[in-house]
Amino acid sequence: MSEAVKNKEDKKVVIIRDLYKSFGDNEVLRGVDLELNAGENLVVLGKSGTGKSVLIKIISGLLKPDSGVVNVLGKEVPILKEKGLNELRLKIGFSFQNSALYDSMTVKENLAFPLVRHKTNLSKKEVDKAIDTVLDAVGLLEKKRQMPSELSGGQKKRIGIARTLILQPEIMLYDEPTAGLDPITSCEINELINEVKAKYNTSSIIITHDLTCAKITGDRVAMLLDGRFVKEGSFADVFTTEDEQIKSFYDYNFIQ
Ligand SMILES: Nc1ncnc2c1ncn2[C@@H]1O[C@H](COP(=O)(O)OP(=O)(O)O)[C@@H](O)[C@H]1O
Ligand SMILES: [Mg+2]
Repeated sequence: MSEAVKNKEDKKVVIIRDLYKSFGDNEVLRGVDLELNAGENLVVLGKSGTGKSVLIKIISGLLKPDSGVVNVLGKEVPILKEKGLNELRLKIGFSFQNSALYDSMTVKENLAFPLVRHKTNLSKKEVDKAIDTVLDAVGLLEKKRQMPSELSGGQKKRIGIARTLILQPEIMLYDEPTAGLDPITSCEINELINEVKAKYNTSSIIITHDLTCAKITGDRVAMLLDGRFVKEGSFADVFTTEDEQIKSFYDYNFIQ
């Protein structure tokens, strides 16, 4: 990318242009264009199997695209070597669909794990303080000594988010943060996503097919259909449409 383009777009933390990704003859992403502005919550909506998870795996360098531009925090992700990729990943908090906690470790040990691994210069006291800070941020300070099996689904989700926050990421990628949660717990997670943005000043991509989640958390909503974004804007903009596929997505997901 030229210097001029870079300067003009320096408020964009993710820039994706004409991205393609297939698996064999399964053409998943077919010309994706997407930008994430600094400090915004961008919701990516789309049916199951449309490539939402593939998209954020490409953003975090877990999957390689076939072609297209993937620029994250000023780095061209597809050409990064292992060292560059590891440095970039420290700035990206990836909240997985299943919270991916280690079942044999306490909450505290789960939270210490990324710090001990990536920030080896911290004292024990600093690690303890960082753990208390993120546990407080997700409202679960009292669960420090519990095992993951003793937590509810929503609490596990919170601890998973706390574990990504402990490295103070600039970008958060939430993959289906409310999947499998009851409506009240979902609401609490949506509020947490908004609090994380306010407290940690993160820019986030939130993948979901939960329209309440999209409405509460999305500063902007983008609809992925058949391998590309067909509409983006405010929640109201996206769903004020005569497009049959978008209308049926709305009806299907809100009536559920
Ligand atoms: N590592 C992989 N190898 C082969 N196919 C994959 C892989 N990851 C995803 N896919 C396929 O890509 C498509 C999109 O998957 P995914 O991004 O997980 O969908 P979703 O929008 O539900 O998150 C699916 O057809 C899935 O089977
Ligand atoms: Mg997925």
